[in-house]
Amino acid sequence: MASNVEKHKSDGTLVGNTLEWVDARFPLMSLWRDHLSEYYAPKNFNFWYFFGSLALLVLVNQIVTGIFLTMHFKPDAALNAAGVPVAFASVEYIMRDVPLGWIIRYMHSTGASAFFIVVYLHMFRGLLYGSYRKPRELIWVFGLLIFLCLMGEAFFGYLLPWGQMSFWGAQVIVNLFSAIPLIGPDLSLFIRGDYVVSDATLNRFFSFHVIAIPLVLVGLVAAHIMALHEVGSNNPDGVEIKKYKNDKGIPLDGIPFHPYYTVKDIVGVVVFLMVFTIVLCFMPEFGGYFLEYNNFIPADPLKTPPHIAPVWYFTPYYSVLRAVTFPLFWIDAKFWGVVAMGAAVVILGALPWLDRSPAKSIRYRGPIFKTLLSIWVFGFVILGILGTKPPSYAFFGVIPGAPVAQIFSVYYFLFFITMPWWSKIDKCKPEPERVTG
Ligand code: HEM
Repeated sequence: MASNVEKHKSDGTLVGNTLEWVDARFPLMSLWRDHLSEYYAPKNFNFWYFFGSLALLVLVNQIVTGIFLTMHFKPDAALNAAGVPVAFASVEYIMRDVPLGWIIRYMHSTGASAFFIVVYLHMFRGLLYGSYRKPRELIWVFGLLIFLCLMGEAFFGYLLPWGQMSFWGAQVIVNLFSAIPLIGPDLSLFIRGDYVVSDATLNRFFSFHVIAIPLVLVGLVAAHIMALHEVGSNNPDGVEIKKYKNDKGIPLDGIPFHPYYTVKDIVGVVVFLMVFTIVLCFMPEFGGYFLEYNNFIPADPLKTPPHIAPVWYFTPYYSVLRAVTFPLFWIDAKFWGVVAMGAAVVILGALPWLDRSPAKSIRYRGPIFKTLLSIWVFGFVILGILGTKPPSYAFFGVIPGAPVAQIFSVYYFLFFITMPWWSKIDKCKPEPERVTG
């Protein structure tokens, strides 16, 4: 790590003088060196490594567009003179009357889906290259906490436009908590702040969405990156670059993050922004997946939509929840569904301790891992698709979806539970000593 005593020496220019002044009072240059110009990252990063910086970009996008939306949004469920809920009308006002309001709103709503796409790919990279393995367990655990916060953030945000899906989605999810024995009914009352989803619910969800969760999220992202920079990045070969250093202590297979990866990440950013802009301008609802059509109808507590489905990024977990259809120990199936859904996310946190393979990266792992992981990914996608459909859905009209969801839900857990066993017996190739490029 660069020494904190090496202060910046001015070259006599205004910028140089300012830097010297600041650096005498704040560890600016040592932060710059430790995290950018002298942070040595493996030289063999591939496109999978774009998604960390893209997640940061989307986080900034959500915060900045969120600030502007908050200037005009009104968390109020009362009806206005036209009989439309004020919250719903304020979103319409943003879309139609606020200068550039439509683009800011679509940047935020498309950004929510983009966040999950980027983070799912970022997590999948971790699975591919064993990035959660020792010594990166805490990076992974912080990541998982970030993922949980993101889910909370998306759930709370979705209530705010006060459309039919906002209202009924929140109703369904909050009601799930009432299935918890003894405390359930009181707990869901506590979450809602009322006997039904109402103005009180809207106000507290607004408060969680705009301040409480973003604060925790930003703190966790800082912890995530601090943990990463403490141990150094993994790479597609899964080898530790700190093992071989030159006489100055610089890893032989490392290159300074800045300028090499700051420049490389710009490629990812440009491609991402192109796709993002196309979606934003031409298909912001994305066929009802990013913004559900029912949510363009104001919330009506007296009219339940025929089919209530969460937004696409929750659907794999929603399928796991619905897969539990039988009571256990005299407790309602709904309760076990909630437990299974929670466990499906939390079990990811145990991954660093479940995986016993001698090799980290998929490049050197054996056929068992490759086969089981492929089935797991396939199952996750099928669960995701089924979660968007009613429980009676059948693939091609013949294969009933409900048992398929049950099979893949069981497989989802079995993949992890049996991992300590199969990861040990899998025939891995020997890992190289140095990165292979
Ligand atoms: C707001 C969300 C997130 C942000 C901004 C973020 C940011 C980053 C950044 C900038 C990196 C370094 C660059 C890279 O390796 O791609 C990174 C690495 C990493 N992240 Fe995240 N991350 C987020 C969520 C997550 C989640 C949800 C997980 C997993 C549950 C996770 C697991 C990891 C791991 C294991 C690494 C180390 C990768 C390696 O060295 O190969 N991150 N993250």
